[in-house]
Formats: sequence, structure tokens, C-alpha cells
Amino acid sequence: MFSLRFFTLLFCSALFTIVSGQNWYTVEWDAPSFTALSGDMVVPKLPQPGGTPYVWPGVQSGDGVLQAVLDGRSGTWWIGDGFFGTPSLPWGNGFNVNPGDTVHFSFTLSGSSTWTCTLSSNGKSASTTLNITGSTMNRAIFAAELYDVPFNFGPIVYRNVQITATTPASQWCGSTAHLGSYPFTVSGNTASGNTCRIASITQNNA
Ligand SMILES: *[C@@H]1O[C@H](CO)[C@@H](O)[C@H](O)[C@H]1NC(C)=O
Repeated sequence: MFSLRFFTLLFCSALFTIVSGQNWYTVEWDAPSFTALSGDMVVPKLPQPGGTPYVWPGVQSGDGVLQAVLDGRSGTWWIGDGFFGTPSLPWGNGFNVNPGDTVHFSFTLSGSSTWTCTLSSNGKSASTTLNITGSTMNRAIFAAELYDVPFNFGPIVYRNVQITATTPASQWCGSTAHLGSYPFTVSGNTASGNTCRIASITQNNA
């Protein structure tokens, strides 16, 4: 359903233009093991019809990615939680949203494998519990994953982001990586205990 970057990057090719093929635009943090991620996503404009735009925050392991996917394939935005990888799990719950809406999302690990995922926006809410066994989430990702869609519908804005790991945030909060050549800003990082707070992440048009 949702392609993982470590599979799909193999097929990225300079032969394709920006509106043909797939393009990734991410901001990422790495830590040995993440246990929670939350924040507010401001829903961007709808991309032009015809392609497949996925915009998501999530956490990734070597086996898959747990993500709140804003899916624009149908010409409207729908956001829902799910885990794409191994084990193969049914996709979770979600709802339609409109450009400009703010969606609060959270992923929280309890025990060794139970992830509780929540979404809420303008009185709508969805909750999904996933038993993701054998997955150590070592990357937090904010992604625009685009198939035959140019990234001209930004900015994608996240506010009040909190990422928690099993290790002190001072070791990883200030260090970001990214995929894609595009302008983005990350502001207001503060490390407190094992939690990294980020005031805002802005992913601008490529
Ligand atoms: C999660 O799945 C594993 C493997 O199927 C199972 O052993 C375990 O009991 C499950 N945990 C919960 C909380 O359902």
C-alpha cells in the first residue's frame, strides 16, 4: 500500500521529471528507539489531481513504518493511521480533512509492541491500536511521498512536535537529516529528558 523509502529509493531515477515518478521530501531524526511521537499537522493545499500524494509523520524500523498518512489520491484529503511493513496489519482508522485544518496526531508505545495511535481535528477523532511485534523504531520521519505529483502544494507545517526515545534527547534532538532537495525549516528544538520538543517544522515547495 504505502511504499517504504528503503524499497522505493532504488527506483528513483534522474530519467523522470518532477511530475513523473516518485519524489521524497523528508525531515528526520534518528535515535536508538523511539517510544512516542505527537504534534499538530496543518493540512496543506490539495495537489493537482491525477497523481498519488502521501504526506505523513511517522516512526520507522527496519521492518516498516508506523504513520499517520494524509492521502490525497481521491482528490480530497483523508488521514488515517497504519503500519506498513512486517507484520502485515490492517490499516487503521481515519477521516476526511480540508486544507487549513489542524490535525493533532499521536503515537505512543506501551509495553514492548503496543502502539496507540490517535488523530483529532475539528471534533473528528480516530483511534487505532496496533500490536507491532519485533520493530524497534529508530527513525522519526516527516515525509511528503509523491507519485506523479509535483511538490507545489506546500508549505506543510507541523507545530508542537514532541518526540520521545529511550535515550536522552540531548543526544539526538539537535540533529536532523533529510531526503530531497527542497527548502525546509526546523525551529525551536529543546531537549528535556528523553523528549525532544520542536516548535515548528515547515516543508516548503521544492
Ligand atoms: C502481540 O502479538 C504477539 C505475536 O502474535 C503476541 O504474542 C502478543 O500476545 C500480542 N500482544 C498483545 C498485547 O496483543
